[in-house]
Amino acid sequence: MPSTLPLNDGSAIPALGFGLYKVPADETERVVADGIAAGYRLIDGAEFYGNEREMGDGVRRAVDAGVPREDLTVTSKFWGDPVQSADALRASFEQSAAALGTGIDVYMIHWPRPARDRFVEVWRAMLELQQAGRVRTLGVSNFTEQHLQRLIDETGVTPAINQVESHPWLPQHELRAFHAEHGIVTQAWSPLGRARVLSDPTIQAIARAHGVSPAQAIIRWHLQLGGALIPKSTHPHRLRENLDVDGFALSDDEMAQIAALETGERTGTHPDERQ
Ligand code: A2P
Repeated sequence: MPSTLPLNDGSAIPALGFGLYKVPADETERVVADGIAAGYRLIDGAEFYGNEREMGDGVRRAVDAGVPREDLTVTSKFWGDPVQSADALRASFEQSAAALGTGIDVYMIHWPRPARDRFVEVWRAMLELQQAGRVRTLGVSNFTEQHLQRLIDETGVTPAINQVESHPWLPQHELRAFHAEHGIVTQAWSPLGRARVLSDPTIQAIARAHGVSPAQAIIRWHLQLGGALIPKSTHPHRLRENLDVDGFALSDDEMAQIAALETGERTGTHPDERQ
């Protein structure tokens, strides 16, 4: 069972979950049910992924098979097209909640979209949803230090989680330090660099030394940094492999070797670029 990380709202999330970005809708119910059966307890979805109805079906299938609903963390995110506003946030939340039909435990602003300058208004509307008991935990995604600082300064409420792209080529050390200072959990998306980092020779050598796969070595690195992550796979054997990371530990030297791989290379969009 994955270890959990405490959040600044008094709750906790599993450090290791799995994501549903680009999982085809017609495979999503099975992937969710397989993932929960394998031992995952956090499922990361979003309005934008177009598979929330099927995600809800997968969660229900797992609950019907005996997994207590309260053991699961169901995540959704507000996309914000065509407008990012408090009204749009409320409408989108209701749509996601209806599609899932399972309740939403963690709700996030998917992108800050800083050029529109509406994310503080949206955050205030999210705080109202939380006060009304509609959602337990509030987070953001793809926020930079500057965006986070504005939320904190203007509303006095710090997000519990910031989900950002992070993998050995983009470790986000400075952002992680800012998060640590403010009690924000770093949750990595594309934690394997969309599989491209798996062929990195340093990662391969470290994996060989421990008799594990490159994916397992990278997942271990994320956990030892103290972060959360949501590796994605549509294959049941890989979902299981990615959970099986408690039998070894990376040395300080290996952590330093991985830290030296930083290139700043992104597999996705920079937070400031998505308008
Ligand atoms: P697949 O879905 O075919 O298993 P990220 O989470 O960084 O975006 O990476 C996801 C990519 O990594 C997917 O293409 C996924 O492929 C692949 N992947 C996930 N886990 C593993 C693994 N244990 N070994 C090899 N590839 C993996």
